[in-house]
Amino acid sequence: MERYTTEREGELDFYRAFLPLVDPEADLGEMISDNNDGVLNGNLLEFKLRAGDLNAALFQCVKNLSARRLRGRPVPANIIIVDLNAGEAYLYKSQDYLSEIERVYSGGASRSNTGFIGREYDRKFPYGSDELAAADLANCLRERRFTRIHIDENCIVGWASAYYRALPGAGKEDFLGDESGGHRTLGEIRRPTIFAEYIYPYTGRTNLRFQYLMDRLNDTLQKKDLGAFYTPAPYARLAHRLLRRAIGRVPAGNDYVIIDRCAGTGNLERDLTEEELSHCILSTVEYYEYKVLQEVLGPKVRALIPPREEAGTFQAGLVKGADALSREFLEDPVIRQYVEDPGCTVILLENPPYAEAHGSERNMSGAWKGSFLHREMKSAAGGRAADDLGNIFIWSAFRYYLRQPTDSYVLFSPAKYWKAQHLVDRRFLGGYALNRRHFHTNIDACILCVLWSNEEEPGLEEFTVRGYDLTPSGELSDAGDLTVRRIHRSYSQCYYDKSPRPGDEPGIACDAEGLERRDGLSLRPIYNEDIVGYLAPKGAGFDKPDLNCTLTRCAFYNAHGFYLRRDNYLRSLPMFCASRYITYNRGWTERTRVMKSADGAERYLTDAASGRLEPWLLRCLLFTCLEMQNHMRTFTGSDGRFYRNELCLDTTNGETLASARLRDLTPGDAERELLTQWRLLLSAARRTAQYDPGKTYGVYEIYAGIDTSHRDEEGRIIFDNPEVHSALQTLKTLVRDYYNREIVPGLFEYEFIK
Ligand SMILES: C[S@@+](CC[C@H](N)C(=O)[O-])C[C@H]1O[C@@H](n2cnc3c(N)ncnc32)[C@H](O)[C@@H]1O
Repeated sequence: MERYTTEREGELDFYRAFLPLVDPEADLGEMISDNNDGVLNGNLLEFKLRAGDLNAALFQCVKNLSARRLRGRPVPANIIIVDLNAGEAYLYKSQDYLSEIERVYSGGASRSNTGFIGREYDRKFPYGSDELAAADLANCLRERRFTRIHIDENCIVGWASAYYRALPGAGKEDFLGDESGGHRTLGEIRRPTIFAEYIYPYTGRTNLRFQYLMDRLNDTLQKKDLGAFYTPAPYARLAHRLLRRAIGRVPAGNDYVIIDRCAGTGNLERDLTEEELSHCILSTVEYYEYKVLQEVLGPKVRALIPPREEAGTFQAGLVKGADALSREFLEDPVIRQYVEDPGCTVILLENPPYAEAHGSERNMSGAWKGSFLHREMKSAAGGRAADDLGNIFIWSAFRYYLRQPTDSYVLFSPAKYWKAQHLVDRRFLGGYALNRRHFHTNIDACILCVLWSNEEEPGLEEFTVRGYDLTPSGELSDAGDLTVRRIHRSYSQCYYDKSPRPGDEPGIACDAEGLERRDGLSLRPIYNEDIVGYLAPKGAGFDKPDLNCTLTRCAFYNAHGFYLRRDNYLRSLPMFCASRYITYNRGWTERTRVMKSADGAERYLTDAASGRLEPWLLRCLLFTCLEMQNHMRTFTGSDGRFYRNELCLDTTNGETLASARLRDLTPGDAERELLTQWRLLLSAARRTAQYDPGKTYGVYEIYAGIDTSHRDEEGRIIFDNPEVHSALQTLKTLVRDYYNREIVPGLFEYEFIK
């Protein structure tokens, strides 16, 4: 008879027996948690109920070690495969498999492992039947040796992250430094100190091998300041189509220059023809990028700024004279000679860095703030647009570089600069929409690549571009035509009802979870009998949809919204609905291309007042009552008042404002389905121990108070009320489908999203 029927049981027993001998401090829960890949000191452990095919198990270990190398984690010297039911363990040495470990595998480690040719194991420990063998195995598990790996382009990003995590103050030179060029310092990869046991010194003279990864090797501070997101080659080639159209516009007899002030390692220029390259003027501020740029493109381009490294070029990781936002750069004589030459056409080809100074990024070091061009833009253009690094590049391109109608700008950027901030009022000649994910980020969002002609065209309200995603093998994949529309007005300008009412008196505020918050309030909360909630659908973009739209029972502590009252709540709900758009439409084509606007306000308010929109508004109400971001709750405040959730459908304690109003909605199949699911959820909630009959429950309150969970002793998540949990999951799916079918078309029609 087998002792174990699941690996987990066997693994638990194994650790219970060996951990006290090997590492009495080690935490059993931690060892068996999902995110532990079975490493104990210098040992990778792989448990099998029956180690039928040792080679297959070994291959699985090799793949796990390969994944550790890619993530910048030490590769244990020992591989131990444990046959749980036989009570036997087999020792292999990872050094023997180094070349296999240094490959990159796709798919899960436990799949397709048969056919691997392994060597004979080094030792076998029959620990289940032999005490001496068990003691030997414990000794082996105490060993802390690692197999050193080679650094290559596949794993260097993982090791860079591990390095900056281990030494938070370290800079890129400490990790990557080489002995070429003017600033010679040997970094960790070339002379390992903290990774001395884990990696072989990298012997490449320069960092050319890592040219496509230079943005991802930036240290933490640089990542924030340089906003370096690299353009993949297929997208760069799309930009070349636009560039060639720009070159086609050069008047006969003119010379032309292609300027890229933030070229990084030259991804945008790499595939240009020799002739085109001979017109390029390139620069970039980060030292190691500059060195690669110089090595790869320096000899081929018309000018590099600065042209060569000199003593003092390296300045704390940056290149002296290459900061495109400095006065020195703006007045650089090499560029000026072309910009001031009427017989020369200027084309800019750029993917400017992207970093914002508001919201959660406010704390970033932001060395670019206070730069010469930042100050110039602030005084000339004013407003918040200047608080965006990319915008400074865009604004200054038109202000200082482009002068003639035949000058052009091929520009990569999220749409906001044109769509919401109106930074460019020039002629649109064509463009593409691209998936931001492929610019070394993990965000699905839309990046535009547009060819702007330097001719004024102030009334442009929309343009259409072709969308292209990339397939896993890097091919362009056509996403069809996508229209980008300008937005002019915000919700707060047109829709926030801030008028005081008779009977307003001091009240209390809520936090983002919908419960009372008493400290750090940005407003003086108001109470009135007719107030049923507070809606704060902040900002035009969808950067953090859950943080940027709150719907709470009382004032939101951080303000930026308005009170929902019995007489205005219904017509205000489309703003809540619109704020959920990205949550239910996560495709890359939507985020940053679509934003919130109040441009349809007159039409909307007229139609809403006429009663024509009643059925749609009631559907918005139904959606709002059943949507999780509605954080209204029922509670008694510190002011002694009982606050009841009125925008929900729980009528246990009598009709709510919403349930009464929804009597006017003639339910179709979709509504009936939603309501049935809601009743199912509520009755499941009523059967739980946590249910409080005095409360009026909304979906969020059920989620927060009743759909609770805990972890069992093996670390698995266990839902306390599985019926509630599954009913809630189903409701969520129905709500999403309902939203996209019934709510979204009206939101676009009235330009709540645009
Ligand atoms: C979005 S990346 C684009 C890089 C490259 N052109 C590409 O498309 O792959 C922006 C680049 O601007 C550089 N950069 C950031 N701030 C800069 C500044 N003030 N002056 C010059 N370059 C800067 C970054 O180091 C980064 O290489």
